[in-house]
Amino acid sequence: MVIITPKVLHLFPIFSFLLLLLLKFSLAATTYNVQSYGAKPDGKSDSTKPFLNAWAAACASGKPSTIYVPQGKYVLGTAQFWGHSCKNSITIRIDGTLVQPYDYHVTGHNAHWLSFERVNGVKIIGGTLDGQGAGLWSCKASGGNCPGGASTLGIYNSNNIVVSGLTSLNSQLFHVIVDGCNNVMIQGMKISASSNSPNTDGIHIQNSNGVTVLSSIIATGDDCISMGPGSSNVLIQSIFCGPGHGISIGSLGWNKQEPGVQNVTVKSVNFQGTQNGVRIKTWARPSNGFVKNVLFQDVTMGNVKNPIVIDQHYCPDHPNSCPNQASGVKISAVTFKQIRGRSASPVAISIGCSQNNPCRSITFQDISLTYGNQAARVACAYAGGSYHGFVQPRGCL
Ligand SMILES: *[C@@H]1O[C@H](CO)[C@@H](O)[C@H](O)[C@H]1NC(C)=O
Repeated sequence: MVIITPKVLHLFPIFSFLLLLLLKFSLAATTYNVQSYGAKPDGKSDSTKPFLNAWAAACASGKPSTIYVPQGKYVLGTAQFWGHSCKNSITIRIDGTLVQPYDYHVTGHNAHWLSFERVNGVKIIGGTLDGQGAGLWSCKASGGNCPGGASTLGIYNSNNIVVSGLTSLNSQLFHVIVDGCNNVMIQGMKISASSNSPNTDGIHIQNSNGVTVLSSIIATGDDCISMGPGSSNVLIQSIFCGPGHGISIGSLGWNKQEPGVQNVTVKSVNFQGTQNGVRIKTWARPSNGFVKNVLFQDVTMGNVKNPIVIDQHYCPDHPNSCPNQASGVKISAVTFKQIRGRSASPVAISIGCSQNNPCRSITFQDISLTYGNQAARVACAYAGGSYHGFVQPRGCL
């Protein structure tokens, strides 16, 4: 028993220091090294189970924890990381490369290669994901009987997610999908796939609120970034896109009942050699969907085939089965501001809105787009709004 006398009292600072030290260590993140669970950095052994076991251990931890992936190549088959029973936040720090099996039949029939479901407070820091998709792309190109392909990284129904400094190479299908999430930050991402790889979208966002994509470099065969139904409060900033199909909202309006897209800012983007720049696309079918409060600002177009596009008759692949109705998706309050550069085709601005639901409050401000040595042209239908500052080409609204 300690009797508090003035003599003992002067020891209190030391006691409280020791206590704080103890507290600090017990709160410090616990680290789970995947190699301790049997993962082999040899580029050959299947490390799926060791990764899932490291996840299970981190998930059961009573403290915030870190899963550490040291340098080396780890082959992983399809892996789902479930978070509904996790007790704390988990950081996955990757110094190595995760490789999808070379034989695309192993994972290519599943929707995803790696997916996170119902996680909260997960951070993925660093690392490379190598989808080894080239074999599947050529199978598809030769019209063979191929699996649909797995998207590399899917994040579903999750909150408070950070992905920082991750590289994704040669996905079989989409590189990253964010669906049903709140508060997601993706930064310093590098995505790379061949310009003729099919459906290898860089980052696809849908049914999600508060998604930020910053400082990323995307080269791929489809959209660099796409936003599907239910995307709201999205900020996309400081992006290099090319090759690829640009940054798009859509395609939207396939379904009759569909959540809208609102408050999207796309800022400081450099497109080089892409098929499109900034684009909104909807199917020509009845829908209660909408797009409102969108800002495309500070955009450079370097030889972009279709720099600015609103297409409410979107139907890319099947000309015989296009819906050919009026799109129900209502598009309003879309601003194109400070957009300059070179178009690779004569029509730099193409605005084709729905005859039943014309686009409203479209703003063009400070636009300068050229085609070769000539002024570029516009092609427009069913759009209303206003011009501000110097806008060339104009004649749309
Ligand atoms: C729009 O989205 C941004 C970026 O996520 C967010 O900071 C801002 O608060 C949102 N604005 C409104 C009006 O919700």
